Amino acid sequence: EGIQAEKLAFIGAGYVGLVSGTCFAELGNRVVCVDRDADKIGLLRDSVIPIYEPGLEELVRCNQAAGRLSFTTSIGDAVREADIVFLAVGTPPLEGGDVDLSQVRDAARQIAENIDADKIVVIKSTVPVGTGRSIERLINEHSRSGAKVRVVSNPEFLREGSAIHDTFHPDRIVIGCEDPEAGERIRRLHEPLGAETLITGRESAELIKYAANAFLATKISFINEMANICEKVGADIGMVAKGIGLDKRIGPHFLQAGVGYGGSCFPKDTRAQLRIAEDVDYEFRILRAVIEVNRLQRLRFAQKIERAAGPVEGKRIAVLGLAFKPETDDLRDAPSLDVADWLIRRGADVIGYDPVAWARAAQQIPELAVTDSLEAALRGADAVVVVTQWESIRRMDLDWAKSLVARPIMIDGRNIWEPAEMAAKGWTYWSVGRPE
Ligand code: UGA
Repeated sequence: EGIQAEKLAFIGAGYVGLVSGTCFAELGNRVVCVDRDADKIGLLRDSVIPIYEPGLEELVRCNQAAGRLSFTTSIGDAVREADIVFLAVGTPPLEGGDVDLSQVRDAARQIAENIDADKIVVIKSTVPVGTGRSIERLINEHSRSGAKVRVVSNPEFLREGSAIHDTFHPDRIVIGCEDPEAGERIRRLHEPLGAETLITGRESAELIKYAANAFLATKISFINEMANICEKVGADIGMVAKGIGLDKRIGPHFLQAGVGYGGSCFPKDTRAQLRIAEDVDYEFRILRAVIEVNRLQRLRFAQKIERAAGPVEGKRIAVLGLAFKPETDDLRDAPSLDVADWLIRRGADVIGYDPVAWARAAQQIPELAVTDSLEAALRGADAVVVVTQWESIRRMDLDWAKSLVARPIMIDGRNIWEPAEMAAKGWTYWSVGRPE
């Protein structure tokens, strides 16, 4: 009742474009997803999903069958058919914290060439402050037909691995616009989600995205530094996190100490935010420290392996969990790669286990042996290192694991087990932020 279907185009069928496009189709809109990668579009037309994201394939298939979701390589067709065009192309990092906006600009130029009527363009890609303004100008100055666009900023907060859930149950929707009518149209589009909606200026919306990721990264680096102190004073970071998290002003989330954050977003967005500050002659001191702490946390963890197991040269080390977090095949800036690389450079014989990302990991580090069999990874290992807390690892039978390894030494970067339980089972157990 009252839901007005819209005609939407999503440019960029990557994580954000594919997931949001599919979810908006599920809500009853007519959606076309565009990508310049013809192979990807070919796969998607056959309902084959090029990324690993639980639940996505099913949702794509249903909405294709219902005629609400289609895929094309023709940006022109998609733009002409749609009333609202979402930009969800990649904005990869460049050296020094800059962001590569070439895909955003290319898409903008193609929109300018192809629009035949006034449209709303929504930027979902994570872009530096001021991009919305400049893209609006670029499209309107180059509009071949003279039709105009209004550009709205609508940052995306979904997490890989729970992307569909996050899209349907967002904590908030942020809409940054200079034109109230365009903002209202985008607000109505999101209305079925029933989420708190913040309508603000375009620059504020663009900054909210960076501020959110910078703040979350800060929580992680903060708790990791507390963990490092815990180890020295004989305290338990799990209890400390719980104790502070019960304060509603702090909250219980994102206080899991470990090997530090990875992925395609936190590392990139924190650096980009530093650069945004630098560009206006402001030094973002806290954020600089957050990034440095994260780098050191990986190194600390790698060094802990030698403290636990002795020099690793010539030893067989099993690294469990390679993806930057569970439920994804994404290896971008994954802590596992740094840890494996460190071990290999010190002469260890490293075997990496991951149920999904194993094959990709082999492409990234040729010297790394990989497997999707936990048993094969554990067999004969002189030490077991946990980097990513996949369910298969958390559920692992520790007696079975002990019967496979050469030496029952475990260095756990995710604090999966209780130290007392591990000791009782005969494991030498090292984790993060607990008494050593
Ligand atoms: C993150 C944000 O959570 C999303 O809100 C945002 O939309 C997204 O980036 C983005 O900018 O596109 P994501 O990178 O998928 O999402 O992953 P998270 O679940 O946030 O985890 C990020 C990293 O932090 C992982 O390496 C994870 O292991 C680590 N982490 C997270 C911790 O070490 N401790 C914690 O308590 C939480």
